[in-house]
Formats: sequence, structure tokens, C-alpha cells
Amino acid sequence: MLPAFEWKKNKLVMIDQRKLPSKEIFIEYDDYRGVARAIETMVVRGAPAIGVTAAYGVALGVLDLRAAQGIDRAFERIYARLERTRPTARNLFWALERMKRAFEAHKARGLAGLKKALVAEAKAIEEEDVRANEAIGRNGRGLIPAGATVLTHCNAGELATAGYGTAVGVIRAAHDQGKRIRVFADETRPFLQGARLTCWELDRRGIPVTLITDNMAGWFMKKGEIQVVVVGADRIARNGDTANKIGTYSVAVLAKEHGIPFYVAAPMSTVDASLASGDEIPIEERSGKEVREAAGRCLTLPHVAVRNPAFDVTPAKYVTGIITENGVYAPPYSFGS
Ligand code: MRU
Repeated sequence: MLPAFEWKKNKLVMIDQRKLPSKEIFIEYDDYRGVARAIETMVVRGAPAIGVTAAYGVALGVLDLRAAQGIDRAFERIYARLERTRPTARNLFWALERMKRAFEAHKARGLAGLKKALVAEAKAIEEEDVRANEAIGRNGRGLIPAGATVLTHCNAGELATAGYGTAVGVIRAAHDQGKRIRVFADETRPFLQGARLTCWELDRRGIPVTLITDNMAGWFMKKGEIQVVVVGADRIARNGDTANKIGTYSVAVLAKEHGIPFYVAAPMSTVDASLASGDEIPIEERSGKEVREAAGRCLTLPHVAVRNPAFDVTPAKYVTGIITENGVYAPPYSFGS
């Protein structure tokens, strides 16, 4: 299986997720500005993958420093550039804060030692994310009934993480138990993470997947064809309100109306206990071009006004449970207290 990214000989290699599934193209990065651009333009995406690649971006920035003089200013510049890439993913800020703590702890030990320590910290973040995802799978698989059809939205799989996946990790773990589950993947307009990435991942794993357009979910729920929903998260507030890919909120409301359990699967690094509720979560607004166009073709009037919030917030009252590496949280949620 292709990982979303790989640290190889002091370079970060990423699969270009914008080109999947039709082309498997790998891009090599040896500077932090390139990594920042890759995150902004969605070469790499998915909150945990953004966090880990940003951590490697910090390591690349420091590897480039030639003298110990002025490293504080240089570090601030690297940090600030990576920090302004994608505002909603909590994992980005969580990983950058960890890299900053490692920088502070090791900067007095000389440039060579500092470089080693920062690469080691980024690797630790990567390895911990894989382990967290595997634990999420183990903790969540019991919530998926045998023979169920599971609906998922966007891509919260291997490509969105350091490996294994969160929501797709739960699906994989249930599949590996021999539960004979099936998946409905929402196509996830406008970037089509469901159609392009989730279908690709599940198909390669031999997990039966059916692609539906985003506006079909309610109808299939009404017809009794969906038994459970599992999605990932970009940021979870203290009260359990959850930001995830635009369209998740509609799925959650529909699930509640039809009495279908709606689970969020995410590592604790996605929880932002500093925010009391989802009202405080910053929502990224992306270029209108993504909505106006599909596969490089204009779908509408080229000048028509569009809106493109990349995420929405699902209030905690719609969330049946939050599956983490620490276990499954049930309402009322109260993270960090
Ligand atoms: O804009 P994206 O593709 O980065 O959005 C991804 C999602 O919304 C995922 O569901 C979320 O990051 C969780 S990934 C494990």
C-alpha cells in the first residue's frame, strides 16, 4: 500500500492526492516552503496527515539552517509559514506546537543535535499517529454490526493520516473481523475526496464500496440501506461539536432523523479543548474555482458568485459517539475537564 508520504534520506516524498486515482505521482520536498504549498494546494490533505507533514516541514526548515546564529528568528519564520496553510485542522497546530517544544528543549545543544532531535520528533509524531489509528480501529469495530452498510463522507483513511486511517480504519478493522460489511462513499463535492480517494483505498483493500453522490444519502437512509455512519474530524471542541468536511453536518442531521448511529473517529490530537464549542472553530474558505470547475472544466458561468467553505460543524447533539485511541466517548462530551 502506498503511504500518503514518506521521510526518505532527509526528504519528504508525497503522493500527489490531487491526481489520484488516475495517476500515482510522487513529489519530493526538501524545503519547508514547498511542504507548506503542498498542504495549501492539497497534494496532501486530511487533518492528521497535514499535522505530520507540517512537522516534517519544520524539520526540513531547520535542516537547511547553516549557522546557530539567529535560529530563533529562523524558526519563527518556518513556524509562521506552516501555520498559515490550513486553519481548521487542529492536528496542524498540535504538531507544530510539539515541534516548537522540541526546538526549545534542544536548541542549546548545537545545530547538529537540534537537527537530529527535530527529525526524531517528527518521526515520533508519525509513528504515534499510526498507533492511534490502529487503536481507533480496535475501539470502533464493535460498533459496526455484521452485514451493515456503512456510510462515510470525505476521506478519513490511510491517505488522510500517517497510516491505517480513522473512520476508514474503523471500517477496515470491522472488515478484518469478517463482518461482511459494505460501504457507501459520498463523492464529497467539490474536491471529490470520497469518489477519488476513499473508493480507491477501499477497492485496493477488497472492501466492497459503492459510490453515491452527496445528495443521495438521505434517500438511501429512508430506504433502510444504511445502518451506520462513520466520519473523521478536523477539529473537535470541548463539548463534542465536530468540524469535518463540508456536508458532514447534513449527513448527521439525516442520520438522526432516520435513527441511524452517527460516529466520529479521530485521534486525541484532533481535540481542541481550548474551544468551548464549535462556534469558535475557524472554518477555511477555499477558492471558488474548486466549485465552479470539475476536472479542469468550467461547470457554470465563469463569473458566477460561489461560496466554498471547506468544512462545517456538526453539533454534538447529532454525534452518537466519538471513537478515539483512548476509547469511545459518549455524550455529554466534556473533553479536557
Ligand atoms: O479538506 P481535506 O481533504 O483536508 O478534509 C479532510 C477531512 O475533512 C477529513 O474527514 C478529516 O481531515 C479527517 S482525516 C482522518
